[in-house]
Amino acid sequence: MASSGVRDTRRRGRQRRDMCAAVLFTLLLCVLRCAGGDKPSNIVVILTDDQDVELGGMTPMKKARSLIGDAGAYFTNAFTVAPLCCPSRSSILTGRYPHNHGVRNNSLTGNCSSPAWQKGPESLAFPVYLNKQLYQTFYGGKYLNQYGKKEAGEVSYIPPGWDQWHALVGDSKYYNYSLSVNGKEEQHGDHYDQDYLTDLIANRSLEFLDKLSPQRPFFIMLSPPAAHSPWTAAPEYEGAFNDTTAPRDGSFNKPGKDKHWLLRQPLNPMSPSSIKFLDDAFRKRWQTLLSVDDLVEKVVKKLMDLQVLNNTYIFYTSDHGYHTGQFSLPIGKRHLYECDIRVPLMVRGPGIKPNQTLQAPVLNIDLAPTFLDIAGFNLSTVNMDGQSFLHHMAPSLRNGTTRPYFLVEHTGEGHSDSDPACPKLGPGLSHCFPDCICEDAFNNTYACVRMLTDKNLQYCEFADSESFVEVYNLTSDPHQMENILKKVDPTLLQAMNQRLIKLQSCEGSTCWDKKY
Ligand SMILES: *[C@@H]1O[C@H](CO)[C@@H](O)[C@H](O)[C@H]1NC(C)=O
Ligand SMILES: *[C@@H]1O[C@H](CO)[C@@H](O)[C@H](O)[C@H]1NC(C)=O
Ligand SMILES: *[C@@H]1O[C@H](CO)[C@@H](O)[C@H](O)[C@H]1NC(C)=O
Ligand SMILES: *[C@@H]1O[C@H](CO)[C@@H](O)[C@H](O)[C@H]1NC(C)=O
Ligand SMILES: *[C@@H]1O[C@H](CO)[C@@H](O)[C@H](O)[C@H]1NC(C)=O
Ligand SMILES: *[C@@H]1O[C@H](CO)[C@@H](O)[C@H](O)[C@H]1NC(C)=O
Ligand SMILES: *[C@@H]1O[C@H](CO)[C@@H](O)[C@H](O)[C@H]1NC(C)=O
Ligand SMILES: *[C@@H]1O[C@H](CO)[C@@H](O)[C@H](O)[C@H]1NC(C)=O
Ligand SMILES: *[C@@H]1O[C@H](CO)[C@@H](O)[C@H](O)[C@H]1NC(C)=O
Ligand SMILES: *[C@@H]1O[C@H](CO)[C@@H](O)[C@H](O)[C@H]1NC(C)=O
Ligand SMILES: *[C@@H]1O[C@H](CO)[C@@H](O)[C@H](O)[C@H]1NC(C)=O
Repeated sequence: MASSGVRDTRRRGRQRRDMCAAVLFTLLLCVLRCAGGDKPSNIVVILTDDQDVELGGMTPMKKARSLIGDAGAYFTNAFTVAPLCCPSRSSILTGRYPHNHGVRNNSLTGNCSSPAWQKGPESLAFPVYLNKQLYQTFYGGKYLNQYGKKEAGEVSYIPPGWDQWHALVGDSKYYNYSLSVNGKEEQHGDHYDQDYLTDLIANRSLEFLDKLSPQRPFFIMLSPPAAHSPWTAAPEYEGAFNDTTAPRDGSFNKPGKDKHWLLRQPLNPMSPSSIKFLDDAFRKRWQTLLSVDDLVEKVVKKLMDLQVLNNTYIFYTSDHGYHTGQFSLPIGKRHLYECDIRVPLMVRGPGIKPNQTLQAPVLNIDLAPTFLDIAGFNLSTVNMDGQSFLHHMAPSLRNGTTRPYFLVEHTGEGHSDSDPACPKLGPGLSHCFPDCICEDAFNNTYACVRMLTDKNLQYCEFADSESFVEVYNLTSDPHQMENILKKVDPTLLQAMNQRLIKLQSCEGSTCWDKKY
């Protein structure tokens, strides 16, 4: 008894000391920040799902382009390092390549929201550091494909660093979903006014903004389901773009000649039913994006009303691109071609002059370091593979260099028995629809080095039984029609192979080391 009483007294003493320290710390910060008025800037991030930039994915975003891109910078060379949802989102959160965060696909066994991910990489993701910088943080919408599932800790699991958490359980949906609202399950049906997910996360972010403490900066991340399947438009947009079809660009409905095994399988020319399917999908994708355009308008208007717009950075991007009919693949992502790896990226904020078009290559792994840079965090104390790109958009605030090349990694998904959409095809394949055309396979596993500054080249190696290699000259062949492997200078080929090998095991600053 006595000893426990002593312990209690000690604990109370310690609590009082901790409290005093906390008060002093807050006061000190206020002296440093409130007085100087140099509270770090606020940050809002809009992360869409499956939105391409190559096939006109930004066309429906009239308001977003005017309120973010025209008021700031458009990046014309923004890329994902992994053209699949869960690996890409994990890269955005950690600032790391898949070979360093270990998330390989959209399943728990591939580390999507897995216990190993939660214990390791997620505990070093950017929100943890923002929280240390006293940001008030909010997440709304789709997180990682397996989030909230039983084996991923159910809805009660909230990743570290988030103060307000309104995350979707599982993959993108517009209606009939569950959310984790700060660890409690909230079920939603299909009433537009109450449940439409894009509108709901917009509304929740406005409520969060209304309740903010003005002394501390905020960070908001909004991740709507658009433009992912099932492509459910808001009622008012169901008739939009009704005469729009997918663009018939250079590689549309063309055979995957001289390409790796999976690309040599699709029927060419495509069947009329596949073409109808992809045109419908294309139109519906744009319809769902109109609600994201409204979300952007609502959030910007609220920031204006609160008189904080001039001290807020707004980022707009997507987890990866998309294709509709390129090389006769109906719909999807997962490939090394430009449609899938390029993403939209526009940013406005302090120090960014309006109406800029920037060519510097920027990656999704650069987002986390950029947020931390804005937050005033010392970047040499975090181990991220990306680099801040604040200097590209706001040269008055930072100096920096341009990265000459980068890595793209994909681990192909398959079924060990057979794809339920097309049982006759046998094992190893996945996403075989419509018309039994498969979008992915275990051996669609590849790594590419993409060069953009002095040379505009892409060099890719496949982990398949042919050790297939694809090489493209994007200057002379922007649609990647011709694999130039057999034409390219052997010395250059060898240099690209060496660079790829080094990048595949790079970590932190070695990922942008110019010596490679
Ligand atoms: C999953 O992540 C853990 C820890 O980060 C790693 O050790 C493991 O290799 C990863 N699994 C795969 C399939 O990459
Ligand atoms: C939502 O679920 C209900 C009940 O299962 C179903 O009737 C309805 O069609 C679903 N709505 C949508 C948009 O999927
Ligand atoms: C969002 O807020 C608007 C305006 O208050 C309201 O009309 C709408 O029903 C809300 N939507 C959802 C899904 O909460
Ligand atoms: C498209 O929508 C417009 C306006 O709502 C309508 O007049 C037109 O008939 C529609 N076209 C098709 C092909 O449905
Ligand atoms: C931002 O706008 C507010 C309100 O209009 C103003 O008081 C403040 O000085 C502005 N800050 C900057 C950095 O322009
Ligand atoms: C951006 O450029 C367009 C056309 O060049 C011009 O109309 C517009 O006013 C400019 N916007 C800003 C914010 O400077
Ligand atoms: C950032 O951290 C590094 C490594 O800990 C340290 O050497 C450097 O002085 C720090 N920079 C600033 C500006 O605090
Ligand atoms: C960039 O570097 C130059 C030359 O070293 C220096 O004069 C300038 O102050 C730097 N600018 C910033 C924003 O750090
Ligand atoms: C995901 O990755 C894990 C680990 O490599 C693998 O066992 C699993 O089959 C993959 N899932 C799919 C659908 O390919
Ligand atoms: C790729 O995988 C499929 C399905 O398992 C198999 O039929 C095909 O031979 C493989 N191709 C290569 C080049 O590895
Ligand atoms: C790529 O194409 C451009 C334009 O035709 C040409 O100048 C360049 O030499 C080519 N590069 C390679 C490595 O073939």
